Amino acid sequence: MNTREITVTVNGKRLTETVETRILLADFIRDHLNLTGTHLGCEHGVCGACTVLVDGKAARSCLMLAVQADGSSVDTVESLVNEDGTLHPLQQAFSDNHALQCGFCTPGFMMTLVDFLNENPNPNETEIREAISGNLCRCTGYANIVKAVEQASHALAKQGE
Ligand code: FES
Ligand code: FES
Repeated sequence: MNTREITVTVNGKRLTETVETRILLADFIRDHLNLTGTHLGCEHGVCGACTVLVDGKAARSCLMLAVQADGSSVDTVESLVNEDGTLHPLQQAFSDNHALQCGFCTPGFMMTLVDFLNENPNPNETEIREAISGNLCRCTGYANIVKAVEQASHALAKQGE
């Protein structure tokens, strides 16, 4: 078994771990770090459920090896909630707008959207739909997700005022 030591900052904490060179970033996050909010659906880069931020950019953790994240910072859905337990505006907006049912796809949507709203804080509906076009939801449908993103973008703009 080939192993390598990697140092990664995950949700703000710097960690050094020895990993198998072939382990996926998604499996490292879930199985080594026990951060099971990152979900694995297709494991082929299609569904978006495994999306995390790598150095602030949305990335599919099923398409990356853990060793490729060496030296990077990785943020998972667990990073969104505030220390006092209050929800991130995206989490609050998904809840308020019934933008999830089973929730399997939701962490991937959220991490995709964190990156998107950083880049485009005031998106229109077309831009939102384009941004989430790589994330599959099999049970909620997309209308409420779009509404949630609109609410979150307004809330984030207010936070920044
Ligand atoms: S599990 Fe990674 S894109 Fe589907
Ligand atoms: S809420 Fe069930 S797959 Fe999206």
